[in-house]
Amino acid sequence: MLTPAVLTMDDPKKLRTLEEIRRRRTFAIISHPDAGKTTLTEKLLLYGGAIQLAGAVKAKRGRAAAVSDWMDIERERGISITSSVLQFPYHGLAMNLLDTPGHADFSEDTYRTLHAADGAVMLLDCAKGVEAQTKKLFRVCKQRKMPIFTFVNKMDRPGREPFDLVGEVESVLGIGVFPVTWPIYRGAQFRGVYHRLRREVFLFDGKKGGSTQASGAEVVGVTVTGIDDPKLRSEIDEDGYRRVREEAELLETAGDAFSMERFLAGDVSPMFFGSAMNNFGVAPFLDTFCELMPSPTARVSNVGLIEPDAEFSGFVFKIQANMDKAHRDRVAFVRICSGRFERGMKVKHVRTEKPVRLANPTTFLAQERTIVDEAFAGDVIGIYDPGVFEIGDTLTAERSVEFEAIPSFTPEHFARCVMIDPMRRKQLKKGLEQLAQEGTIQLYRPPVGREGDMILGAVGRLQLEVVTHRMKSEYDVALRLEPMACEFARWVSKRDGGEVDLGAFDRERVGIPAVDVRGRPVVLFAGAWQLSSAERVFLDVVFAETARGVISRRE
Ligand code: G4P
Repeated sequence: MLTPAVLTMDDPKKLRTLEEIRRRRTFAIISHPDAGKTTLTEKLLLYGGAIQLAGAVKAKRGRAAAVSDWMDIERERGISITSSVLQFPYHGLAMNLLDTPGHADFSEDTYRTLHAADGAVMLLDCAKGVEAQTKKLFRVCKQRKMPIFTFVNKMDRPGREPFDLVGEVESVLGIGVFPVTWPIYRGAQFRGVYHRLRREVFLFDGKKGGSTQASGAEVVGVTVTGIDDPKLRSEIDEDGYRRVREEAELLETAGDAFSMERFLAGDVSPMFFGSAMNNFGVAPFLDTFCELMPSPTARVSNVGLIEPDAEFSGFVFKIQANMDKAHRDRVAFVRICSGRFERGMKVKHVRTEKPVRLANPTTFLAQERTIVDEAFAGDVIGIYDPGVFEIGDTLTAERSVEFEAIPSFTPEHFARCVMIDPMRRKQLKKGLEQLAQEGTIQLYRPPVGREGDMILGAVGRLQLEVVTHRMKSEYDVALRLEPMACEFARWVSKRDGGEVDLGAFDRERVGIPAVDVRGRPVVLFAGAWQLSSAERVFLDVVFAETARGVISRRE
């Protein structure tokens, strides 16, 4: 967290930067599809005043215009594929919500987005508890030791016992849980929550709320001096009171007191209960979230920790082509890690050591893009990319800094790309190269001197479908993908630094040789058995899971 830096009032610009950074809260919501992420996101935006009408975030079944989904395919399928960045104010704070795709196939994009966040909200369906996708995403947050909040959703529906859910999060995810709010009744009778830290009850009026209401149905919290306060008893009926009292007592005696230190280290998760759809428990959650969630902290780099109040630095965590079909542009999403950014600023692109002027940075309320004049550590800005940026690239005021590498995953699905109209070969190449730079897919071509179709590699099968769809709608290229019986790729290099003879893999019939977009030699294998054979045949070759460290033939 930001410690009061050595600043004096005679340094007003720096002081303001510090104030602005302190206001930032940059986080992501992680969940299994259908837990209610879209609904919760929408409610957070409503509470922040960023949108006026619930239902604007995702237009399932053709409701209002979609805000956070960009692509037709997403709308058709009702899933969110690309991550978007949503900024909204809340009680004097500047919230940056990095929206992560919920579909299991798009995990790679989600991992990168989590890398750009400072904390996460883990959303659970009260009937389902910890699900497969939640576990995967949680692991990334845990690795990064991020503060994690838990919101148990759909409390208006029959679900599991809250104590059960606490136990499951603790045992399955290996993190401590501190229930901050506790439900009063559940299911159809769900009446409200008791806020343990504030000693306040929030009661709800089920008749008033509704998924299309902007204001929500929460009744102003009733402050009580504690669980014994007679006021609490008069607010809910005898039965409900007895139960919440017993449970609250059990929580006090059985659990530890809330530890800010353990929370910040990602060791204990504050848990909240509610129903996003009915605006139940969202405000008490959001308010406590704002109190506990830290502003941007120092980031690990190759030259040590970079404090958020240091001079400008940031990294590209996502590249998106053709966000706006009318403009045919490519946008690089940059997470600012330190300092202040100013429109038109000249920064250093560390990988190429070249200066770049950032002329028209934008912030996002999804499709609505606004030019920003300034931005601060914690913010995400979109910058026009003329084709120079790659995921993981660092931008700085002048130092050569590299941040922790963004995790990269090797593809598991491969397909040969057969073009239907040979007249559009140029567009095909351009389109596929752009999608590969975005990180949507990995692209390979046959080694030099051999004719053949390009090969696509993706972490999830759905990504391949997206490529076919986007190539048609964005580049007007029809193509057919023929799945290949390959399971994984290995980047190959010679132990002695010499050049690998890719043709030898063909001759020995062990794997399919290719080169990646940057000209690095790669071999695709049908399975572990084939890799073992290749390792036995080519004793002088190193088979690496990622491209890192493999020298490009062109470089
Ligand atoms: P996702 O983005 O995590 O995939 O979930 P989404 O918000 O789309 O919610 C999935 C379904 O769960 C939706 O119903 C949504 O209305 C419902 N839902 C979300 N929060 C709550 C809640 O607090 N209580 C209850 N009872 N339901 C909730 P759907 O029928 O799939 O779509 P829709 O027609 O309602 O949009």
